[in-house]
Amino acid sequence: MKLRKLMAGFMVGVMAFSIAACSGGSTEPDSSDTEQEQSSASGETKTVGIAMPTQSLERWNRDGSYLKQQFESKGYNVELTYSDNKIDQQVKDIEGLIAGEIDLLVIAAIDGQALSQVLKDAKDLEIPVISYDRLINNTDAISYYVSFDNYKVGQLQGQFVEETLGLDLNDTSKKYNIEFTAGDPADNNAPFFFNGAFDVLKPYIDAGILNVPSGQTEFQQVATKAWDTATALTRFQNILGSNYSGGTQLDVALCSNDSTALGVTQAIDSDYAGDNKVLITGQDGDEANLANIVDGKQTMTVYKAVANEAVATLDLGVALLNGETPDESLISNSGWDFECMYDTESYDNGTGIIPSYLLTPTVITKDNIQTELVDTGYYTLDENGYPKGVQ
Ligand code: BGC
Repeated sequence: MKLRKLMAGFMVGVMAFSIAACSGGSTEPDSSDTEQEQSSASGETKTVGIAMPTQSLERWNRDGSYLKQQFESKGYNVELTYSDNKIDQQVKDIEGLIAGEIDLLVIAAIDGQALSQVLKDAKDLEIPVISYDRLINNTDAISYYVSFDNYKVGQLQGQFVEETLGLDLNDTSKKYNIEFTAGDPADNNAPFFFNGAFDVLKPYIDAGILNVPSGQTEFQQVATKAWDTATALTRFQNILGSNYSGGTQLDVALCSNDSTALGVTQAIDSDYAGDNKVLITGQDGDEANLANIVDGKQTMTVYKAVANEAVATLDLGVALLNGETPDESLISNSGWDFECMYDTESYDNGTGIIPSYLLTPTVITKDNIQTELVDTGYYTLDENGYPKGVQ
């Protein structure tokens, strides 16, 4: 029972029908199952509040759009906010969603440590909260976490380097230079990505097969605030200037995602004196990075089908709105045509383990853009052969 709704009283009750009736095409009652208006016991159309971090990082535009589309297709109202990557703004936006009497919150946090207070309000009002893509820490208001296997994203990047260079612990004759660029320390995912990659490559670093001329091998040293492209660019220019100006060859730039890979690629374009092709990793399938992959400037990206992440979030959200306590059976009952695992071990947010639905990421190179991204309908190719997202 939501206290604010109790307090709102009769006047709001009599207005509920007209508000629901005016609140957009997707809420029109329909005889089909999929488009039927989803009402609470009081007759109001249920509303889902979705808080995304920013539109300046490409993927969140896709997430917001897919999530909105999914919930609206089932007849829910959707309130979608973007907070310009500003922590205070996201707190205000979530406060606004709660004040707007939402029934479910889906949040991709800018700072996983900064939402405890505002989510206490959600908990007091019994609004279920799904931590979307990024785990929100230090709050027991979170019901579930939906994401990709974040450690695996990093592992795929590390394994790609291992396989492409043919690294072999028994063969120390071949040596390579590598530099790391990781994500925002405020994002709970960032250390998972970094550790996934680093754990694969560390034995080769220890064996002297991989060398890190900058000496920067700790997450905090290689992190990029706000996953910002310009910040990654400047840092990498400094690394190149300090460690590679004397003819030292850079073989690998291990970047945790595409926004940082973009900056690193620009730095290599402008400031690297060598003429070898540097192996550059990424994550997301941002359009600029896919164009770089087509052009041979970036070597791979790890693609996460956020369309599927939105489907998983919808089915989980509907179950929560129906008062259920979903578990592993949600996966088989939903009949998803994508891989997902139910994990009750990996993600402790400081208040205990948060049950997680983790989807499986895919490696993308120039060779499988067509089959994995275009044939699947996520992207089309423009007249120059560059992938453009359909969302
Ligand atoms: C997401 C990545 C994304 C990064 C920056 C992370 O939390 O999981 O897919 O590249 O944020 O937007």
